[in-house]
Amino acid sequence: MELINNLVKNFKKEFNKDIDAKTEVYFAPGRVNLIGEHIDYNGGKVFPTALDFGTYAVLKKRDDKVFRMYSENFKDLGIIEFNLDLLKNTEKDDWANYPKGIIKTFLDAGYRIDSGFDVLFFGNIPNGAGLSSSASIEVLTTVILKNLFNLNISMIDMVKLSQKTENEFIGVNCGIMDQFAIGMGKKDHAILLDCETLEYAYAPFVLKDASIVIANTNKRRGLGESKYNERRASCEAALEDLKAAGLKINSLCDMDSETFESMKHSIKSEEAIPRVRHAVSENLRVLEAMKSLKSGDIEAFGKLMNASHLSLKNDYEVTGFELDSLVEAAWTEPGTIGSRMTGAGFGGCTVSLVQNDKLDSFITNVGKKYFDTTGLKATFYIGNPGDGAKKLGDY
Ligand code: GLA
Repeated sequence: MELINNLVKNFKKEFNKDIDAKTEVYFAPGRVNLIGEHIDYNGGKVFPTALDFGTYAVLKKRDDKVFRMYSENFKDLGIIEFNLDLLKNTEKDDWANYPKGIIKTFLDAGYRIDSGFDVLFFGNIPNGAGLSSSASIEVLTTVILKNLFNLNISMIDMVKLSQKTENEFIGVNCGIMDQFAIGMGKKDHAILLDCETLEYAYAPFVLKDASIVIANTNKRRGLGESKYNERRASCEAALEDLKAAGLKINSLCDMDSETFESMKHSIKSEEAIPRVRHAVSENLRVLEAMKSLKSGDIEAFGKLMNASHLSLKNDYEVTGFELDSLVEAAWTEPGTIGSRMTGAGFGGCTVSLVQNDKLDSFITNVGKKYFDTTGLKATFYIGNPGDGAKKLGDY
């Protein structure tokens, strides 16, 4: 509550709003993916959870067509201003391109938005760390638009328009997982999502004796976005090769391991073969992980997380020195049930399941080992599964 009161106060100060002007407050979480990495765009199954930290927005509707946006995370950029009639991705508008893109995508989809608003954002998810700060502000903006302009739109459609914005306005060819987890998250649950059909099921994910620990390598992703698009493109090309060879599949994850082994020779690019092997094996690991959860075998779930990391390292090649060092440090630590990179990779965060009675020593020792290997300080967070994006209230 104190956080929100402070944000409301700062909003009124930044925008010179009189002190009793009524403002609206919204929240969208970040997400962490437990298993099922780099397969959302390959028609696979993924198992993310929304977090109980994310992005907040305090705002007030305007009577004209002007949007004024301020982020507490990028104070030096000041207030970024743009007009409803000119919604273009421009470098100088930096982070504000995310909410701007959402507004544009909504207008293009025929939703009526006829005025601007003043908004202050604040995120307590680290930016660019693989916990989906960008999807968080995207989905947050969709919830704002729905409420402010009384739009008749479902959360699933808001999720889809957020992904469309990221693909077309921002230029990152992401799958649907992040926006889905952020829009549809449910406290104390993870979501098993079939990315081919968008069928989903909530699975309780509060472990009796263990916690989700997120560790940030504090290595920025750098060229991650272009490499991400490359991985996706090579999977798509491989799918076309397999179809041309007569395989009746809609996506790479429709294959089982035997089919992959017998058909891999028809994939034209040598480099794409291990990529496809990852997609196929990761999807099978998600299915195995669901079985382990159902039978209460959290140790088996942890082993599948470890195997997922190795596949992302060796076959998909999206880990790198920092992520590998942090995960390997976790693997040697007593109390670690499983540990892997999470999100797009190329830097960013790891996710581990750790026994509660070993949490403190885990953080101290893994932090130290990681520092000794890389010279970087990791930051640790406990990841509690939280609710999806929503309006918090009027203040
Ligand atoms: C990023 C993308 C997601 C997904 C993950 C990897 O977070 O936004 O769509 O592809 O990488 O699993």
